[in-house]
Amino acid sequence: MNANQVKLLKETFKTIEPMADETGELLYTKLFEIDPSLRPLFKGDIKAQGRMVFTAIGLAIAGLDKPEAMNDQVRSLGSRHVNYGVQPRDVNTFGAAFLWALEQTLGPAFTPEVKDAWISAYGVLSVAMRRATA
Ligand code: HEM
Repeated sequence: MNANQVKLLKETFKTIEPMADETGELLYTKLFEIDPSLRPLFKGDIKAQGRMVFTAIGLAIAGLDKPEAMNDQVRSLGSRHVNYGVQPRDVNTFGAAFLWALEQTLGPAFTPEVKDAWISAYGVLSVAMRRATA
């Protein structure tokens, strides 16, 4: 991820943050449409779930400047996901639903450059989460 991508992530997250509930709802509706078998893994309120995911994403974005500080949190988030029953193949499915939801929320601001930045950020985060479980 380069400096311009970090800047785009921070800028667009400012739009997403106040819309976290709505974006989260879009994400999970899409996720369960793509793969209904994932629905039973989620036990709690989906709205609250969306909020938690975007809070975690926000922390990750804020921490892009100081990745060392992020490691422990990402590691434990990754190992909790194994306990939730998340399989490595689910990462791509979730990524697709995540990007789709961002596109709905950002509208025209979801330019190809912004999309690439979010693909990289999701990639970095999910690889770090998976590394924690290897
Ligand atoms: C960047 C990627 C992701 C982030 C930042 C993220 C974040 C979170 C957070 C913050 C929680 C709340 C509980 C906790 O902190 O342990 C959570 C729970 C959960 N996540 Fe994720 N997640 C990600 C990817 C995924 C993927 C790929 C799946 C696969 C389907 C998934 C499925 C779940 C499930 C099943 C729970 C538990 C729900 C429950 O107990 O009701 N997550 N996630």
